[in-house]
Amino acid sequence: MLSAVQPSNRLTIGNYIGAVMNWAKMQADYDCLFFAVDLHVITDTRGSKELRRQTYQAIATYIACGLDPDLCTLFVQSHVKQHAELAWILTCHATMGEVSRMTQFKDKSQKHGESIPMGLFAYPVLMAADILLYQTDYVPVGIDQKQHVELTRDLAVRMNNAYTPKPEAPLFKIPEPMIPPLGAKIMSLQDPLKKMSKSDPDLLATLFLDDSDKDIEKKLKRAVTDSGSEILDADDKPGVRNLLTLQSVLTNRPIAEIVAGYAGKQYGHLKVDTAGICMDAIRPIREKTERLMGDLSYLDTILQKGAEKASERAAVTLARVADKMGFIPRS
Ligand code: TRP
Repeated sequence: MLSAVQPSNRLTIGNYIGAVMNWAKMQADYDCLFFAVDLHVITDTRGSKELRRQTYQAIATYIACGLDPDLCTLFVQSHVKQHAELAWILTCHATMGEVSRMTQFKDKSQKHGESIPMGLFAYPVLMAADILLYQTDYVPVGIDQKQHVELTRDLAVRMNNAYTPKPEAPLFKIPEPMIPPLGAKIMSLQDPLKKMSKSDPDLLATLFLDDSDKDIEKKLKRAVTDSGSEILDADDKPGVRNLLTLQSVLTNRPIAEIVAGYAGKQYGHLKVDTAGICMDAIRPIREKTERLMGDLSYLDTILQKGAEKASERAAVTLARVADKMGFIPRS
């Protein structure tokens, strides 16, 4: 199982609940690879000192959320050179037509006007390389990334047909997207009909994993509910439902039980309690991330080990690709 985070994205409590929290549980049962995709960041923004800090921060946050470098392979994409190499090879097999259909490209290219970076167009092909290098079975991603995993599958099939026709063992495993089962979808605190998003311009809408207790308190105090007063889990009370959902997933209690405890109480109580629960969930993550960020040499050791483990596997795939494509092996 393999997934990745773009280090320029601050992680939200929605990312934690919808993804990272589950990965932490799965790492004992699956062979897991997680990495920070710094090469993807530069498809949209220039490289910078800030990128270095963000990349450390992404790795530190992963660890603080429970990803254990002894149980999984944790690394930085640019440390494993095969990502860029396989991306180039796949670029030569992908077509302008199929890549043009990617909806994320259509969205992200808008702001670049006439000067769209080629890397932004190639973004999904680099992602395909990320996945195919490791003979990945499962790719847990949000629904917004499903189209990219489908492109990855198409490219894998095309390469397999071209270079390893049956009965040869295929060059690449065909990966499956693993879309998290619906249930615990966390909505914006300001517009509970919209998903909580890291890029919401309304700063009160989103809880981040590095928010202070004060931030959390303020955001929940101002969370949008409705003009009623009863605390119920109902379709016409999406704001109340969102707070109940947060409580339920973070404390592992059924919503009905939480609702029962609020008989006769007001929205104010619900908000204060939810703030406390979110603080208790975020605080240890924030504090551990800060501690790790204070010891970059420790993070460097982890990243070095991760890169070694990942490179070893990536090299096996790439050597076979190069061989099948007719490149002379370097002696
Ligand atoms: N594109 C993904 C996102 O924005 C990040 C990503 C890059 C990724 N490479 C990947 C996710 C490989 C899963 C597997 O979320």
